[in-house]
Amino acid sequence: MNKEKKNQNAFGMIGLGTMGSNLLQNIADHGYSCAGYDIDSKKVDILNQLNRDSIQGFSDMNDFVKSLNSPRIVMMLVPAGKIVDGVIEELIKVLDKEDIIIDGGNSHFIDTDRHFLDLEKKGYHFIGMGVSGGEEGARRGPSMMPGGDKKAYKVVEPILKKIAAHVDSEPTVAYMGARSAGHFVKMVHNGIEYALMQLISETYEVLKNGLKLKDNEIHEVFEKWNEGRLKSYLLEITRDIFAYKYKGAKHLLLNDIKDEAKAKGTGKWTSQAAMDLNLPIPIIDIAVSMRDLSKYKDLRTKASQIYPNPKDSVYSVSSEKYIASLEEAFYFAMVSAYAQGMHLLYRANKEYKYGLNLDLIAKIWRGGCIIRSGFLEAIYTAYKKNSKLKHLFLDNDIHDSLVKSIPGIRTIVSDAARHGIAVPAFSASLGYFDNFRSEKMPANLIQAQRDYFGSHTYELRGKEGVFHTEWEETNN
Ligand code: 6PG
Repeated sequence: MNKEKKNQNAFGMIGLGTMGSNLLQNIADHGYSCAGYDIDSKKVDILNQLNRDSIQGFSDMNDFVKSLNSPRIVMMLVPAGKIVDGVIEELIKVLDKEDIIIDGGNSHFIDTDRHFLDLEKKGYHFIGMGVSGGEEGARRGPSMMPGGDKKAYKVVEPILKKIAAHVDSEPTVAYMGARSAGHFVKMVHNGIEYALMQLISETYEVLKNGLKLKDNEIHEVFEKWNEGRLKSYLLEITRDIFAYKYKGAKHLLLNDIKDEAKAKGTGKWTSQAAMDLNLPIPIIDIAVSMRDLSKYKDLRTKASQIYPNPKDSVYSVSSEKYIASLEEAFYFAMVSAYAQGMHLLYRANKEYKYGLNLDLIAKIWRGGCIIRSGFLEAIYTAYKKNSKLKHLFLDNDIHDSLVKSIPGIRTIVSDAARHGIAVPAFSASLGYFDNFRSEKMPANLIQAQRDYFGSHTYELRGKEGVFHTEWEETNN
């Protein structure tokens, strides 16, 4: 079964968890002989028990490395942070210069920059690669966002192209750009993922607690939406979640699940990176904050006892008509969530000189990844038409569809506010839009206030320079 093979394997994987093991099987399916290594011998046994001639599991790092042909291609799929640091340290003791190391996990882009520079100095080739698609994606075709050493990418490209998902016969993988570009793009992907998941959850809130729809009716709404312009992987799985019952149970499994959401941190990193670049992505920020708020169950429970719902918390509208407005609102907010993510990529590209192509990013997100959706085709078209597009809202076609959905978002946000239904991400999408379309914002007052209390100075319209006023004295 586990025959000794030296210098024969084309690809090595470190980390045989769900993602590592499935990706390795995917690579083997495409005719490559593969080696897997894990510190946990049980995971190695599970891999070897697959009994596949083209897959060998190892619990000894030296044997694992010896089994690979040169230049060796070794991918890590291990938890981000210290574990990645440790594995790289171990690896370079046993690899040769010219070998290729790929970090396929959700590493923070700052760590990836550090790894890239360090390994480059030492003569190794390093690729930081975002991999999206979860377990099923890894097994049947993920979307992959590699960045870093371009020459090394060219060596692994044929394998990655084969194992990726395909849209219109084109693989959902492409070289993103320099250094940490791949992990930066994947981080923003996850930020958008957080925003879309929050918007879907708020939709659920309006349907369940505003319109008082039953679970099967909510299932039908998501089913219908998923057949139209909102078609997306996340709505597809939501539709299925609203149909899932334990065997013999009368109610949905969903209703037994705690309302406290966990997060591994990529959403928070997106918000932090955006703040560092002074680039607003409020829907993503809100999505991160609301996951955090969900964890304060005790506080929320106490507050719910002293701040009851408004008397008219149930909507008195015709559900059918209202759901059409909700669909418009969802479309509006979804466009805004992608637009904010793309804007962040645009800004980061300028700052970090990654060499990103936004059209290519939209192109490889159309399949395999968690945020894949019909709308990504429109994003791809917009950036293909104009690679210098500064913001998606400025694209003509997107403008036209966005304008049509404004009545919907205004209805949903204002009704929710009146009825005490929380839709912070929908609200953020509208607030962002209303400021984005304002030639004049009230920020002149903020300038005046800063100067008043801190002599921070202000700038004047139509006049060069900065100015300061002794505000208390000038009040004649
Ligand atoms: C993907 C997912 C994947 C992971 C999320 C979960 O693209 O396949 O984004 O990377 O499931 O990172 O993230 P949270 O634990 O932060 O929700």
